[in-house]
Amino acid sequence: MTDMKYAHIVGWGSFLPDRIVTNDDIALSVDTSHEWIYTRTGISERRIAAEQETTATMAFEAAARALAVADIHPSQIELIIVATSTPEYIFPSTACRVQDYLGARRAGAFDLSAACSGFVYALSMASQAIATGSVRNAVVIGTETMSRIVDWQDRATCILFGDGAGAVVLKGSSIPGGMMASSLRSDGSGGDLLSLPAVYHNPVPTLGPEYLYTNGDKNKTISMAGRQVFRFATSVISDLIEDVLEKADLTIDDVSLIVPHQANSRIIESSAKKLGVSSDLFYMNLERTGNTSAASIPIALCDAVAEGRLEPDDNVVFVGFGGGLTWAGSVVKWAVTPPEISMVDREWKRARYMFTRGRSRLRKLSRRWGASLAGSPVPEARLKDADSKKQ
Ligand code: COA
Repeated sequence: MTDMKYAHIVGWGSFLPDRIVTNDDIALSVDTSHEWIYTRTGISERRIAAEQETTATMAFEAAARALAVADIHPSQIELIIVATSTPEYIFPSTACRVQDYLGARRAGAFDLSAACSGFVYALSMASQAIATGSVRNAVVIGTETMSRIVDWQDRATCILFGDGAGAVVLKGSSIPGGMMASSLRSDGSGGDLLSLPAVYHNPVPTLGPEYLYTNGDKNKTISMAGRQVFRFATSVISDLIEDVLEKADLTIDDVSLIVPHQANSRIIESSAKKLGVSSDLFYMNLERTGNTSAASIPIALCDAVAEGRLEPDDNVVFVGFGGGLTWAGSVVKWAVTPPEISMVDREWKRARYMFTRGRSRLRKLSRRWGASLAGSPVPEARLKDADSKKQ
C-alpha cells in the first residue's frame, strides 16, 4: 500500500465527430420516423465518424484534452486502459496506438472488453492499480466507432448508436476521496441478447460512407434482443447503485449526480423511479449523442462538468450496463474545478503532440531502415497507412 492510494479524477476530455446524422436522415434509408425513435429512446441525433477518424484517433483526441485539463505531460502517464468493443485491430491494442500518438513512453497500455460497461470496469481497474501503488496515474478511455458495426438496414439497432470518445485522468493522492467504491457484475448466460462476432468490419477506414448504408452481413454486425436488453437494464441498475453506495458508506441522499450509460431515456427514467428519486438526478445527453457504448459515460461526464453540474466534494455515481451481459457501478468524490486553459497553453500543448508524432514516425522509419540494412523482411505497413490517413 502507498500513501497516494486515493485515485482522484483530475482531468477529463471528450471527442465527438463533426458529422451529425438525425433521425430524419435515418428515416431516408429504413422504415422509421423521428417520432418513433425519439419517443422510444430519447435520441434525436448521433455523431458518425468521418472516413479518417477511427476508434484510436478519437481516443487520442479525448485523452489529449483530458491531459490538458489535468496539466499532466504524457511522459508522466504510467497506465492507459481503453474500453472499447470496436478496435481497429485485436492487436496492436487501441491503447497501444493511443500510447504512441500521445508519446506516453512510460505507460503500460491495454484494451478492456466489457461492452457498454467497459468504462466503469476500466475505471475500477485503474483506480485499484493506483491504490496498490503499482502506478501513480492513469488515463482511462471509452471510445467507439459503433457506426462501423451496426447493420444500417436493421431499423431495430441502427437508430440507437453513435460514435465518440471520452477520457479521464486518474491521479494518486494522499487526500481521501476520488474513487470510493466500485461493483462489477456479469451474467454470461445472457450473452446472446447483445452480441458482435469477433470478425467484423472495423478496419482502418478504407471504407467510404457508402459502406454505412450498404452492409447488412449479420456475421459482421451487432445483434440485439431489444426488449430483453431493456428488461435486463431496468432490473439491475437501481440494485447496483444501492450496492455501490452501501460499499462507500453513502445513501442515495448523499449523491449529487448519477452519470449512467446513455442507452435509452426510458431505461434511465424507470431506474430513477425504482430508486425513488427524480430523473433529474441522472445526467442525460443521449438526445444528441445516441448510444456510444463504452464512450457514453465519459462523454456525458464531460458535458455535465461543462454545464456546471459538479462541484468539489460532490458524490457522483457512474453506472454502466450492456453486452456480456455486464453491469458495473462506481462512486467518485469529485475533487476539482476545471482550470482555465489559456489559448497559448492550448497551442503549446498541441505543438508538443505534433513533436511527439514526428518522433514516433522517426522511430518507425529508423526501425524500417535498420531492418532493411540487416536484410530482415519488413511487414506490410498497414498501420502506417492508418497514420497517414489520420492527418
Ligand atoms: N421504427 C419503427 N418501428 C420499429 C423500429 C423503428 N426503428 N424498430 C422496431 N420497430 C417496430 C417493430 O418491428 C415492432 O413492430 P410490430 O409490432 O409490427 O412487430 C414494433 O416496432 C415494436 O418493436 P419492439 O422491438 O418491441 O419495440 P420496443 O418498444 O421494445 O423498442 C427498442 C425497441 C430497441 C427501442 C427498445 O427495445 C430498447 O431500447 N431496448 C434496449 C436497447 C438498448 O438499450 N441496447 C443497448 C444496451 S447497452
